[in-house]
Amino acid sequence: MARPPSTVDDEIFDLRLARSAPDLWPMLDAIYGHREDYADFRAALLKVLKKGWKDRPADLKSLDLKRDLEPDWFQRPDMAGYVFYIDRFAGTLRGILDKLDYLEDLGITYVHLMPCLKPRPGDSDGGYSVMDYRQINPAYGTMEDFEAVSAALRARGISLCIDLVLNHTAKEHAWAKKAAKGDATYQEYYLMFDTPDVPRRYEQSLVEVFPDNAPGNFTYYPGIGKWVWTTFNEHQWDLNWANPTVFLEIVEIMLFLANRGVDVLRLDAVAFMWKRMGTRCQSEPEVHMLLQALRACSRIASAAVLHLEEAIVAPAEMLPYLGRGRHDGREGNLAYHNSLMVQFWGALATRDTRLMTHVLGTHFPDRLTNATYATYIRCHDDIGWAITDEDAAAVGATGHGHRNFLSDFYEGSFPGTFAKGALFQVNEATGDKRISGTFASLAGLEQAVEAGDAAGVEAAVQRILMGHALIASYGGIPLIYMGDELALTNDYGYLQVPEHAHDSRWIHRPVMDWAVAGHRHDGASPGARVFWGTKAILARRRAVSALHGCVPVKVVSAGVDGVFAFLRAAPTGVVLCLFNFTEGWRRVPEAWVRGVGVTQMHDLLSDHPVEVFDGHVALPPYARVWLA
Ligand code: GLC
Ligand code: GLC
Repeated sequence: MARPPSTVDDEIFDLRLARSAPDLWPMLDAIYGHREDYADFRAALLKVLKKGWKDRPADLKSLDLKRDLEPDWFQRPDMAGYVFYIDRFAGTLRGILDKLDYLEDLGITYVHLMPCLKPRPGDSDGGYSVMDYRQINPAYGTMEDFEAVSAALRARGISLCIDLVLNHTAKEHAWAKKAAKGDATYQEYYLMFDTPDVPRRYEQSLVEVFPDNAPGNFTYYPGIGKWVWTTFNEHQWDLNWANPTVFLEIVEIMLFLANRGVDVLRLDAVAFMWKRMGTRCQSEPEVHMLLQALRACSRIASAAVLHLEEAIVAPAEMLPYLGRGRHDGREGNLAYHNSLMVQFWGALATRDTRLMTHVLGTHFPDRLTNATYATYIRCHDDIGWAITDEDAAAVGATGHGHRNFLSDFYEGSFPGTFAKGALFQVNEATGDKRISGTFASLAGLEQAVEAGDAAGVEAAVQRILMGHALIASYGGIPLIYMGDELALTNDYGYLQVPEHAHDSRWIHRPVMDWAVAGHRHDGASPGARVFWGTKAILARRRAVSALHGCVPVKVVSAGVDGVFAFLRAAPTGVVLCLFNFTEGWRRVPEAWVRGVGVTQMHDLLSDHPVEVFDGHVALPPYARVWLA
């Protein structure tokens, strides 16, 4: 006899709970177990999970099942992401519906809509200062519009990623407003201090994220009479994750968003979630326990949903976000491969791939469990030179000198540089300076066009395509940042916008140039060539099964100056990916190529045979080849 659907539904929930309970409760026991109200908290959490599941629409429940059956869906080579601001790309949420053909033309199967929840008015850190997690930014549309877009994307097989800021809310969030009025329950949601002593003690070991315009990590509010923890901007109040009610509230929000059709939650600024006196208050062990618990909650009540953890930190600190040690396979499904990005820019400036080979070859495992990287060359944020002194020393450089050189090079002040960018958050105290700029401008296009230098334009186009070929093959989901597929250059208009002028990151957040996009299929403009090249790279990626995210990545040294190499060791045979980071020709010995396992001299990227001359594979300037 067939069972009624509700029983089957309950059974699925119970099975999922049983599956993930061992990932969930031990984490919460350790963090909140000492509290008197812990049993109530557990009961309340179960209720939240059950309600989330009960509210989950039927089509999303079948997506849950589908993804249970295909747990590697996000690691497949047909995944290719595109990241954009809704207003800058399409005006409004509904506007996106008219752009889906464009995305499909490029080969996109995943979109990250930059912050789209209701931000505070005025400067909102690009939307990362959220005042209501259950409403859409009214400038973009409504929750109905959002659901219409999510359904349209799903119908086309495009996954949807949105931001969920976990570390802080806007000071205009309802919780913060109640806290400001003196409500003790809500003051517990944040980190508020009556006197400056404790903040001062914390400050001794904290770093500053925005030293330029938001120095320090605390803000005093005379009206409230309290010091409030504000790691980022003054208007972004850090949440108190030691309070289990915060955990409950966020899980409710996560499931609410999941049930609107979100596939990937990009958990913003997660490194900062746990505070411990005497530390930098970044990436503390509790952060990983909380993130594993949140992941388990999604797996129980919205199994199709993945977590992308945003932690832009050095390699050793970043890997745990993909689940290391006891969190193996249980934490983020995705995390940004910040080091790959930094090393790309480093090698491009120095024409030297030794540091890149060293860092990627020694600090990263060749495979991950239930997880993969989000690979990228540019995003909406600045580039911070996350290169340690030890790594620099391993190739005979000094960390400080090298980081400084890279900033000068990409700012455009280093003699002979091809790049044009802008400094971001120069920290006089530490000498640290970060960089803003679009892919195309940092890669030399803007300068070459201004100088009427045809060879420079050509080199810039090749650098961009090499970057896209790198992130398409390294292992993970390549994320193309809006405009980079058309080689859009820096947008200096932000200097005229009062809310943006202090933040040079707006230089690389241009408005989409639909005129250039309209000509992508005709002409030999840099924009058209980069579009075609990028589209071809993504198409070839789809065709090469060895680029699946779970195929091991082994960085190898070809021993040739300026060449970066890695192997994708697939059961069907290796693919050797080679990249020439210089404007000169490079020769890689055929014997070495065959020695690492290449049997056919066939380039899977161009889908053409590779000619061997004089016992060498010849690589033109900025060449990229995927040898089978
Ligand atoms: C993340 C975002 C960045 C924002 C910060 C604070 O790092 O990517 O744009 O400024 O979090 O929310
Ligand atoms: C992020 C990172 C930092 C980044 C900033 C936003 O969370 O920690 O490196 O530059 O916030 O720009």
